[in-house]
Amino acid sequence: MKNEKGESSSTFKMGNSAQERGLPYVPDCYVVPPSYEPRDALDSNSEIVPTIDISRLKGSDDERQGVIQELRSACQLFGFFQIVNHGINQDILDEALVVANGFFQLPAKEKKKFMSNDVYAPVRYTTSLKDGLDKIQFWRIFLKHYAHPLHRWIHLWPQNPPGYREKMGKFCEEVRSLSLEIMGAITESLGLGRDYLSSRMDEDGMQVMAVNCYPPCPGPKTALGLPPHSDYSCITILLQNLTGLEIFNLSAHGGSGRWVLVPEVKGILKVHIGDHVEVLSNGLYKSVVHKVTLNEEKTRISLASLHSLGMEDKMSVPYQLVNNENPLRYRESSFKDFLDFLVKNDISQGNRFIDTLRIKD
Ligand code: OGA
Ligand code: NI
Repeated sequence: MKNEKGESSSTFKMGNSAQERGLPYVPDCYVVPPSYEPRDALDSNSEIVPTIDISRLKGSDDERQGVIQELRSACQLFGFFQIVNHGINQDILDEALVVANGFFQLPAKEKKKFMSNDVYAPVRYTTSLKDGLDKIQFWRIFLKHYAHPLHRWIHLWPQNPPGYREKMGKFCEEVRSLSLEIMGAITESLGLGRDYLSSRMDEDGMQVMAVNCYPPCPGPKTALGLPPHSDYSCITILLQNLTGLEIFNLSAHGGSGRWVLVPEVKGILKVHIGDHVEVLSNGLYKSVVHKVTLNEEKTRISLASLHSLGMEDKMSVPYQLVNNENPLRYRESSFKDFLDFLVKNDISQGNRFIDTLRIKD
């Protein structure tokens, strides 16, 4: 089908997408249905979003317990929180954003070396959500690469721009040790102890970096950078250069929920509770549904670091969290099970992996 500009929607394949070409209009296949409500976000309001000073995890017992309390409440109410005093140097954050942006500025020929629509590939460059073949397309370009253990994957990463491997590698290592610290606090907050998952996450755990670029969009009210979804990680740690991330606050409006634009404050990192922590908590904590809105003038870069168990290691509900009042609510699953789901399902249509894991009463 051709639109009035003579473009067939089926021609927007990766490498040739509207966002990569910087088209001055939004083609029909990018227009999201009204049910996605791209416009209804609350104003950015930093007081709504929980912000936790995690340096206190290393403090006295009382300080640590204070953080654990805040974490428990943020995970229950939002499935999301921001962290300050995380210990990662600002230069490391800034340089990772610079090399990420540098990669997207490279000539198409250079980026296309990494182009792949194989969701199992350890390094791939593509557009939209999955492979540029989604029913609705999203104004996003991304590079995804595995990052742990670093020595196993780094030689597959881009060599350009110069410094990409070194700067992104440093960022990945720092974020990963932070993820272990946060996961320890999360398992502790569930009464499982801080080492409940540490050996499984430390030795074989996966770290997948989604390096996202959202070019300026001529129709930020009609298209989205990413549709509402939750992450298939245990947790995701996110760094962004501009606002655009919105989270769905389930408990707002007497339970009917409301979108909240997450403010950008330099140096703050964001933490998403992913589907596997929802399973781990037997539903006490909810994975956060989030989406990305677009900017008409500026390019937004985000680095989303997804942390999970090993590829085939199954996350299941701990027996300690199952009792008469809390029956088993989820089936076990692995990261690979998610990838298999992704191949068969179009998540732009609202299909969620977590829904396939629920055990009906
Ligand atoms: C993701 C994601 C948010 C962002 O990559 O899963 O939700 O701000 N990214 O880019
Ligand atoms: Ni996400």
